[in-house]
Amino acid sequence: MKKDVIIACDFASAAETYAFLDRFTEEKPFVKIGMELYYAEGPVIVREIRRRGHSVFLDLKLHDIPNTVEKAMRVLSHLDVQMVNLHAAGTKAMMEAALKGLTREDGTRPILLAVTQLTSTSEERMHDELLISGSIADCVCHYAQMAKEAGLDGVVCSPLEAGMVKERCGKEFLTVTPGIRFADGNKGDQVRITTPARAKEIGSDFIVVGRPITAAEDPIAAYRKCVKEFRE
Ligand code: C5P
Repeated sequence: MKKDVIIACDFASAAETYAFLDRFTEEKPFVKIGMELYYAEGPVIVREIRRRGHSVFLDLKLHDIPNTVEKAMRVLSHLDVQMVNLHAAGTKAMMEAALKGLTREDGTRPILLAVTQLTSTSEERMHDELLISGSIADCVCHYAQMAKEAGLDGVVCSPLEAGMVKERCGKEFLTVTPGIRFADGNKGDQVRITTPARAKEIGSDFIVVGRPITAAEDPIAAYRKCVKEFRE
């Protein structure tokens, strides 16, 4: 699958999401569906977005005992999405079980990614609350390595971490990176950000972009600008 821009569809309802996607008459962007929308609308929204011809990253970040995650992934494998994810903190056994559950009878499966440390977790909280010592960077690289050993395809991480993940796990190991802003744009609540062009230089395979596109006056123009900076 080639490098692409994924639009984070962080809308509260199916109606809002479809109204947004209806504005794209010439292209079919890759979209990310997160917990808020999935819990509100259920699998029907995923089927509808697939029916409309979009690729889907289903961002549900599973984390439970291996048996439960395996069965949940088996259910998700029938949704025909392109990407799903889980928390690497669930251990290698959980990731292996997830991979098994996600693989369909014909051997095909969506791309499976691991979330390493959420970008909302500071190093201080990782030390004090999670009792993980060392730097965030070390933890991200270690979790990425575990994900690779479990057979996963890549990780979701900050673009600022994508380079070192590639160094540790190889350039084929995918990095999917949120935290993207245009050079002249509003940061919102994101702190560690990069532009689409910089994310490309660092080696991100997919960038996840929400508000710079969804809240833009002209979302189509913002999406095209993103694609141009990231792919060309
Ligand atoms: O609007 P914005 O571009 O900040 O949206 C980024 C998207 O990526 C949101 O859906 C957010 O939940 C998600 N995300 C993130 N940081 C992570 C993991 C996911 O911003 N570490």
